[in-house]
Amino acid sequence: MSRTPVIAGNWKMHKDHLEAIQLVQRLAYHLDEQDYEGQEVVVCPPFVAIRSVGTLVESDRLPIAVGAQTCHWEDSGAFTGEVAPGMLARLDVRWVICGHSERRALFGETDDVVNRKVKAVRRHGMRPIVCVGEDLDQREAHEHEAIVAEQLGASLAGVSIDDPEDLVVAYEPVWAIGTGETATPDDAQAMCAFIRGQLARLHDEDTAAAVRIQYGGSVKPGNIRELMAQPDVDGALVGGASLNSDDFALIVGHRR
Ligand code: PGA
Repeated sequence: MSRTPVIAGNWKMHKDHLEAIQLVQRLAYHLDEQDYEGQEVVVCPPFVAIRSVGTLVESDRLPIAVGAQTCHWEDSGAFTGEVAPGMLARLDVRWVICGHSERRALFGETDDVVNRKVKAVRRHGMRPIVCVGEDLDQREAHEHEAIVAEQLGASLAGVSIDDPEDLVVAYEPVWAIGTGETATPDDAQAMCAFIRGQLARLHDEDTAAAVRIQYGGSVKPGNIRELMAQPDVDGALVGGASLNSDDFALIVGHRR
């Protein structure tokens, strides 16, 4: 089963709209056609930079998709400060990260909230990147598989997957995010394969075989090749290293 890898940059709360434009211009300067071939490249700027990045991508015909880092699950309403999924879709946002561990830990997002967001994103024709991953205590207590299975099952409850390309799961061990500590390629592979097994249980074998599963957590130019060489790792969700155009270009261009 050949799956098209997805490499996504999660900029978190970095880069205003002017810096965002500069970053994408520099990234595009470093990359050539072959780098984009056979894989999808996504950048997820803060909300306020989405429009600017989208306009640049469109005018320069860059093969880069624009994503968002979260969204609300309702289509509209009295939700001060929130952004509706339809508003993102109107800006040609193709991807939305759902349930990033920072949203879960710092903003109280439960699996139920993540589930509603995933459904809202699908309802508006966008593709969720559903994040799952254990923290250090859970890993040390050997609970990582149970935790990830629970997060996955609850986040995807009632989500139908007609086209498996419309859903990406990101395995992001919390202890590896922003810490410089990466899961070993073997650990990343083991967990991505475990997630694929869970998808087969929740849906079916064919769907599970076709869904892209990313690894995230301190992905850098120096470790991307080894991670991507793992059979069940179908891309990366990159935080810190996506803020630097040289580094992200090396990650996207890792096959050179
Ligand atoms: P990091 O972040 O690459 O800085 O570890 C990854 C993420 O949070 O998605």
